[in-house]
Amino acid sequence: MPQRILRVANMPLDLTILVGTMTGTVQLVAQELELRVDDGDTRAQARLMDNLDSRAFDGGGLFLICSSTYGQGDVPDNAKQLYDSLQTARPDLSGVRYGVIALGDRTYAETFCNGGRRFDRILSELGAKRIGEVLLHDASAGTMPEEVAAEWIDGWVALCREQMDIEASA
Ligand SMILES: Cc1cc2nc3c(=O)[nH]c(=O)nc-3n(C[C@H](O)[C@H](O)[C@H](O)COP(=O)(O)O)c2cc1C
Repeated sequence: MPQRILRVANMPLDLTILVGTMTGTVQLVAQELELRVDDGDTRAQARLMDNLDSRAFDGGGLFLICSSTYGQGDVPDNAKQLYDSLQTARPDLSGVRYGVIALGDRTYAETFCNGGRRFDRILSELGAKRIGEVLLHDASAGTMPEEVAAEWIDGWVALCREQMDIEASA
């Protein structure tokens, strides 16, 4: 028997969008998403990853990690401190639910979108639960990342509500 999905009336969904970027593309995507989903039912806040560490996840909650990829498949410079701190501090993130938008370029075949994938790996290792699939954007595909992400986000937010309502009713 399928589990009944309960909606918690008048409970806004609080979403923190964490932005890892080198040249600003991901920031543009995050700003578009923030405007699109922040509607009273969902409260969204975009934050650059600059100067953050693993304490950004203290208290749990819902996060959307948006990250590009540089170097040998690394996270961008402004995301390094946060990423390294997760690896060294290794906090229990079982109260964290998250999604990932990974920006990259398939020209870098071996390391395509590894920045976002690295965040996905470490968060899941630390007990956080991903909602939905990772959205991969290829800069060589001829599509605009902010448009692809805007098409994706409504379905993802609906999935988050569904998932969190199931957990609240369990
Ligand atoms: C020097 C350089 C290295 C890059 N390395 C990779 C890479 O290893 N893998 C990948 O998928 N994309 C790579 N990219 C593509 C970027 O991640 C992609 O263009 C992204 O949209 C940039 O977003 P940003 O402006 O927010 O940093 C690289 C781009 C540059 C300029």
